[in-house]
Amino acid sequence: MSNICKNWTEWLKKNRFAGQTPEMIEQTTKWLEAVRDVILVYAEIKQYETVIDIGCGTGLLAFKALEIQDCKGKVIFSDKFRDCLEDCKQILDEAGIKYGYQLLECPVEHIALPESTVHKALMRSVLVHVVNKQPAINEIYRILKPGGKLCAFEPVIRSNTRYWEILDPLHIEKYEDFKKAENEIMENPLDSLCNFDENTLKTNLQTAGFTIPEVKLQEVKSSYVVQPNMVREWFINPPSPNQPSTKERFMKYFDEATVEKFMSDVQNYLTGRQIDLKTNAVFINAIK
Ligand SMILES: C[S@@+](CC[C@H](N)C(=O)[O-])C[C@H]1O[C@@H](n2cnc3c(N)ncnc32)[C@H](O)[C@@H]1O
Repeated sequence: MSNICKNWTEWLKKNRFAGQTPEMIEQTTKWLEAVRDVILVYAEIKQYETVIDIGCGTGLLAFKALEIQDCKGKVIFSDKFRDCLEDCKQILDEAGIKYGYQLLECPVEHIALPESTVHKALMRSVLVHVVNKQPAINEIYRILKPGGKLCAFEPVIRSNTRYWEILDPLHIEKYEDFKKAENEIMENPLDSLCNFDENTLKTNLQTAGFTIPEVKLQEVKSSYVVQPNMVREWFINPPSPNQPSTKERFMKYFDEATVEKFMSDVQNYLTGRQIDLKTNAVFINAIK
């Protein structure tokens, strides 16, 4: 567990915004709400249905589903980690909500529900944290009723802009070595963050039994001016509480002093410059 992020709740509330300006945090929040709304449009939730938010975290999807059902159906808040469920329970209690939900502590690979019992499975950015995606997708298929739907969003990190693409070799010591290391990191088949893309997900869904799953690739382009200290935050914050940070990943290839020098070269080169980034993700809409 990283010493700068103790659990998922802390990551969702603090670390995911690391290195962002207040304007960027506002943009990220708006983007999260927009992603949530697309998933919920796909899901077409009805009041009587059983809906599960798999890897619910702080409840981005589940709370909206509860609102749509007006607490008259059943929304299952499910997560592998208890801190997330405790956080959601606190919000539910504070809002005085007593009906229409269930809390379920289990991993996506072993969902503690009988087969064919769920109308809609919702999920955002969970498979990206699961190394072996096929058993997880098979399990979602198992709990869905025939005609039930999986509506999800996952980032496709391996085709995002890489550091070496926005750097100038003339300003970065050991540029070629870091480029090679970054490419290797991004192509590691054992790293849950980057061992998949839209094609492998589609194959996983078809193998599980989903008929003609829709897997829509979305490419988002963004531009902003790099601020002082931003680079350090990008490098030291982990992508999840139990995964190494970018700095730690590079330290598998170089000693700490070399990585620190790279970080300061990147910071010096990028500070004050406008960078253009490409970020990929997929929306999934799959019927059992
Ligand atoms: C990036 S967060 C997304 C949280 C929430 N879905 C959202 O959209 O804000 C990833 C979530 O997946 C959960 N998670 C990670 N591995 C999991 C697994 N194997 N099974 C179930 N949940 C998992 C984490 O606890 C965390 O809540």
